[in-house]
Amino acid sequence: MAGRRGALIVLEGADRAGKSTQAKRLVESLKERGYQAEGMRFPERTTEIGRLVGSYLEKKSNLEDHTNFSLHWCKQPDVGLPKPDIVLFLDISAEAAAKRGDFGNERYETSAFQKMVQKRYAELMEDRSLNWQVIDAAQSMEEVHSAIRQLSEDIIQEAKDQPLGKLWVESDT
Ligand SMILES: Nc1ncnc2c1ncn2[C@@H]1O[C@H](COP(=O)(O)OP(=O)(O)O)[C@@H](O)[C@H]1O
Ligand SMILES: [Mg+2]
Repeated sequence: MAGRRGALIVLEGADRAGKSTQAKRLVESLKERGYQAEGMRFPERTTEIGRLVGSYLEKKSNLEDHTNFSLHWCKQPDVGLPKPDIVLFLDISAEAAAKRGDFGNERYETSAFQKMVQKRYAELMEDRSLNWQVIDAAQSMEEVHSAIRQLSEDIIQEAKDQPLGKLWVESDT
C-alpha cells in the first residue's frame, strides 16, 4: 500500500493553447485552497541542458535534427519517468491559436510544424496507459481554468492512495 502522495498533473497542447497561463493559474488556485502545489516547465531553459535546448530553438546553435520526429523517437527520453496521474490536453485548432498572436522567431513556430505536432498528439492520445483528458482550449481563460481545476482536484483525491507509475514501461502499462 502506497503512502499518501501528491498528484502529477501534466498540461499538454500546441503552441499558444494556454499551457503557461493555465499552469500558473492552477498552481495559484490550488495554493489558495490549501494544497501544496508547485509548477514545473519543460524545457526548463535555465538548466544547462535547457540552455542548450533554448539556444537551439532560438536558432543560436545547430544540432543534429531528427526532422522525421517519429513518435517512438520522441518518447524515448521520457521512458521510466514518473507517470502523470492525468494529462490535460488543451485542445485548440491551429487557426484559433494563430489568432492569439503571430508566430515568433523560434525554430518550430511554423504552421507546417505545428500541424505535425497536432498529428503526433492525436497518436499519443491513443495510448490508453495514460489518463488523457481533453479540454476545449478555445473557451475563455476562466472556463478553461475552471475545467482544469475541477479535474485536478478530483485526481488529487484519487491519486493520494495509489502507487505512482512509470511512464511507458511495459510492466507498468
Ligand atoms: N483562453 C484563452 N483565450 C484567449 N487568449 C488566451 C487564452 N489562454 C491564453 N491566451 C493568450 O494566448 C497566448 C498564449 O498563451 P500561453 O499560456 O503562453 O500558451 P502556451 O504556453 O500554451 O504556448 C497568451 O497571449 C495568452 O494571454
Ligand atoms: Mg508556454
